[in-house]
Amino acid sequence: LTKLEMLYEGKAKKVYKTEVQDQLIVTYKDDATAFNGEKKGSIAEKGAINNQMSAILFQLLEEMGVENHFISLINEREMVVKSVTILPLEVIVRNVTAGSMAKRLGLEEGKILKSPVLEFCYKNDELGDPLINDDHAIALELATKEQIQYIKEQALKVNEILQEFFLTKGLKLVDFKLEFGVYDGKVILADEISPDTCRLWDSNTNEKLDKDRFRRDLGNVEEAYQEVLNRLKK
Ligand code: C5P
Repeated sequence: LTKLEMLYEGKAKKVYKTEVQDQLIVTYKDDATAFNGEKKGSIAEKGAINNQMSAILFQLLEEMGVENHFISLINEREMVVKSVTILPLEVIVRNVTAGSMAKRLGLEEGKILKSPVLEFCYKNDELGDPLINDDHAIALELATKEQIQYIKEQALKVNEILQEFFLTKGLKLVDFKLEFGVYDGKVILADEISPDTCRLWDSNTNEKLDKDRFRRDLGNVEEAYQEVLNRLKK
């Protein structure tokens, strides 16, 4: 497969066309942003780590029946994916209070939720990805009612699979964000699953091993990302 022209450059990835019509090459970057691009920086080896971690998790999910865009790894930083049309939704699943939910509702971080919480945000940088509900998504035609229903089921299934998998690696899956796209008329899981998009805490010490180390200037950012990948590879 050959990398042809760049189709898109995002905050963390570049996407290239290939000679195969429905296959793209994704290159993961070390650039890091937070707070809707207000905070900028770089995390050494992040691109390589996020690429490899996403590959491991997408393969696991595929085996467990969650269709997704991953096709194959090319090298440390690049993967081949199906060319999907991304739905403008960020789908967040939470198991433990943290981040924007803790802030919005005046909750302490780290409280185990009685049941998982699924949130939708409208993917729009200018608006700062505002929180919406499924009625907004359907009424604004961001997705159909059937697509929303399917996305909810898939997101909760992903949560069960990943929560269990991470626990065997000594990691607590606090919350995470997914994106879905349409491929061949069908909704499938896309984007990435990495310490950029998941909150992962050590299951014994609750040490944060994710992008909050960058967001909150906690130090040892590179080490945390590397630690997560090392544990997943064990
Ligand atoms: O900030 P918030 O608490 O809403 O984030 C919830 C989860 O979604 C976190 O795991 C965070 O890393 C992820 N997220 C993301 N991309 C965004 C917003 C949140 O990956 N634009």
